[in-house]
Amino acid sequence: MEDFKALVVTEDNGYYLPGVERRELQDLPPGDVLIRVSYSSINYKDALSASGNKGVTRSFPHTPGIDAAGVVESSSSPNFNKGDEVIVTGYDLGMNTWGGLSEFIRVPANWVVNKPSGLSCRQAMVLGTAGFTAAMCVDTLLQVGIAPSQGPVLVTGATGGVGAIAVWLLSNLGFEVTASTGKLAATPWLTALGATSVINRDIISEPTKKPMLKTEWAAVVDTVGGDTLSNALKAVQYGGSVACCGMAGSTELNTSVFPFIIRGINLMGVDSVELPLEVKIDIWRMLADEWNFKESGVLEGLLCKSISLYGVPDALETVLDGKHQGRYLVSIAG
Ligand SMILES: NC(=O)c1ccc[n+]([C@@H]2O[C@H](COP(=O)([O-])OP(=O)(O)OC[C@H]3O[C@@H](n4cnc5c(N)ncnc54)[C@H](OP(=O)(O)O)[C@@H]3O)[C@@H](O)[C@H]2O)c1
Repeated sequence: MEDFKALVVTEDNGYYLPGVERRELQDLPPGDVLIRVSYSSINYKDALSASGNKGVTRSFPHTPGIDAAGVVESSSSPNFNKGDEVIVTGYDLGMNTWGGLSEFIRVPANWVVNKPSGLSCRQAMVLGTAGFTAAMCVDTLLQVGIAPSQGPVLVTGATGGVGAIAVWLLSNLGFEVTASTGKLAATPWLTALGATSVINRDIISEPTKKPMLKTEWAAVVDTVGGDTLSNALKAVQYGGSVACCGMAGSTELNTSVFPFIIRGINLMGVDSVELPLEVKIDIWRMLADEWNFKESGVLEGLLCKSISLYGVPDALETVLDGKHQGRYLVSIAG
């Protein structure tokens, strides 16, 4: 039986310790499709899982990793054959199911997307759940009719994975983009990704009792929540829309009905985890085709630090502390 490497987080008296260990195929959970993972990535949820957040992962030892791209090794599902290149993101991967920070995963067939030919496994994981979620946010805004002619779009948490890719996508689609960040030193980087202006996140996160604020943006991609989201709702132009996908700052939302009944603002929730597989397939196809702006090389160069499984423990800590910029691509083969 082949043994392989996996990142394993163990619990020791309330401390959670990640390390690379060897495992055997028989240790994997049951499932329809066995996948040899070539690339994974690190998302905020992985940092939560690896630090013992029981809302994400209940029991340890555990292998995190909500993203995986690789090659089918064997399948009991007629939908997949040995050698198919596939992507798995979301559902329970890496939460309470063995995740993608591992040379192998075994998962249900209805979690698996055939990788579109326009993306390599590596490019798919440069994007990962963060890029997928950014694409969902942008798609949601486009579906309610937001257009570049209406004015700038605000992206919060802009140096994070979702934020940075949202900046890049919106800019490539012709939008003016205001990037809100706690790291003003990253201004040249955000500008290179396509931001037209960069603001200090304190401006938008300061609590205010004012029921409404001066209008500034046609739309917002919010990854932060809390007072940031509440203020964004008060400052969106008449008829504008806010795509809410994250809670990097807070899970709270204190608001009144005024933005909705005075300015007709839409607040739209975005979930990349449990959405139907057909919709996932469609978003990946879009990222591989019309939203594959041929600057993927540029995006990867700007956005990602490439690390091996052995670099994951340090990277998880940086992401948990909100100190990173962009994304970590994990090359599983090393
Ligand atoms: N709905 C979904 O399906 C879905 C999918 C993926 C992610 N998410 C959520 O979206 C959020 C962003 O994910 P991500 O992968 O982009 O995370 P990330 O890479 O860790 O980035 C989060 C960014 O938020 C900002 N931030 C961190 N702490 C903050 C604080 N206390 N107050 C205000 N801003 C803060 C930082 O950006 P700046 O320094 O630039 O301000 C940070 O880089 C997370 O809450 C994640 O759980 C949701």
